[in-house]
Amino acid sequence: MAQLDVMDKIVSLAKRRGFVFKSSEIYGGLNGCWDYGPLGVELLRNIKEEWWKAMTYRDNIEGLDASILMHPRVWEASGHVENFTDPMVDCKQCKSRFRLDILGEMIQEKKKKKILESLQLDGDFDKLLEDGEKSSLLLAEINCPQCGNKGTFTAARNFNLMFKTFVGPVEDGGSVVYLRPETAQGIFVNFLNVQSSARQKLPFGIAQIGKAFRNEINTKNFLFRTREFEQMEMQFFVKPVNDVEWYEYWKGERLAWYKSLGMNESKLQFHDHPKNKLAHYAKDATDIEYQFPFGWGEIEGIHNRTNFDLSRHEEFSGKSLKYFDEEAKEKYIPFIIETSAGASRSYMAFLIDAYHEEEVNGEQRTVLRFNPKLAPIKAAILPLVNKDGMPEFARNIETDLRKNFKVFFDDKGAVGRRYRRQDEAGTPFSITVDTQTLADGTVTVRERDSMEQVRVASTQLKNYLVEKIQL
Ligand code: GAP
Repeated sequence: MAQLDVMDKIVSLAKRRGFVFKSSEIYGGLNGCWDYGPLGVELLRNIKEEWWKAMTYRDNIEGLDASILMHPRVWEASGHVENFTDPMVDCKQCKSRFRLDILGEMIQEKKKKKILESLQLDGDFDKLLEDGEKSSLLLAEINCPQCGNKGTFTAARNFNLMFKTFVGPVEDGGSVVYLRPETAQGIFVNFLNVQSSARQKLPFGIAQIGKAFRNEINTKNFLFRTREFEQMEMQFFVKPVNDVEWYEYWKGERLAWYKSLGMNESKLQFHDHPKNKLAHYAKDATDIEYQFPFGWGEIEGIHNRTNFDLSRHEEFSGKSLKYFDEEAKEKYIPFIIETSAGASRSYMAFLIDAYHEEEVNGEQRTVLRFNPKLAPIKAAILPLVNKDGMPEFARNIETDLRKNFKVFFDDKGAVGRRYRRQDEAGTPFSITVDTQTLADGTVTVRERDSMEQVRVASTQLKNYLVEKIQL
């Protein structure tokens, strides 16, 4: 099966089974925004819950939930007002807008060579495209990918990716605020609040899950690049001399997290940023990448941010953000090791990773092999037939299990078809009430991946599931 066909199938399954819908679909959708349906919201919550447990059920990491709107000076200090931009060009004919780098990607290598030759330019086309003077020469030679006209582009202009809005009733410059483009800044500005209220000593971290917004020019690949998304970020504050050790530690921890939730190891890799391409604040950076059907893509960034963020907030706020190290009897601004995961991107990676098609007894089965901890529904309860007291027995099991698990009752159609529906939803266990149940109180538990069936006393079901799911 071609990789991109897989993508189409997953997007279609996501809609059909209630994982992901287009935002405001009845109005034609809103580009770059998605809604999570009944199964999808469970999966998303489970991913966030596993991250939260892995990161904050430790004695050296505290949780935080900062507001989305922050003081506008925060974004000046962070560098976002000045630097969080993409160079853009507009086609003067058809008015389509393109990101300069994406425009470069759209042009075939052969064409690039020809253009460079005709202009007697030397070097990397994409890099030259960002070079002011040479850029205008190149743009004059390029056809608009939308209308096909040649040389109709405006000069490149920087476009800030932050969404702007206003606080209060007056829409003027003094009331501008931004929807946060990352959750990290809420953590930086609360560094001393958390440290002192939780009586933490270095090294310690602050973790936060929340929405972030970026006015991406080119949204693409389903949930990969959206305008509204969720991040799961942790900032770990360390003594400057210990930064390298903690950077390596968090790299290992974060990769292990994806593997511990069943993600295929061969589809995960680190992509270390070359030193000459590091962001201005970073001493070291790596991406954890997943091999999506459209290629390798970043799902999490791990950065050694040095003391850049706290120093800038100290400078812009005029408030000291130094930490007093009682052991060393010295004051300093800590270094920060950041782990920055996209909940929405991880979601997509977990969904794709779980997707399998296979043939069973001559029939096609689609199965989402989620780790049971992530599965939206933990168990389905199925009375074999709708008579002889089986539905009642099954309902009692449902009521009992519902106290601890998200379960689903289904008495419609042949049991084989009901199993298939649960396979497609990724439900790890199907519990069937049959004739034997009425005689001895045992039920069949069918495991999703192996399709093996075992008999379990109905009174033991809760323990059985807790052990299997390892909740
Ligand atoms: N605080 C650092 C930071 O925000 P980033 O590399 O810009 O770093 C971190 O983003 C993670 O957030 C990415 O690895 C990705 O998972 C997610 N992310 C970023 N932009 C996104 C977008 N437009 N749509 C979905 N997820 C996004």
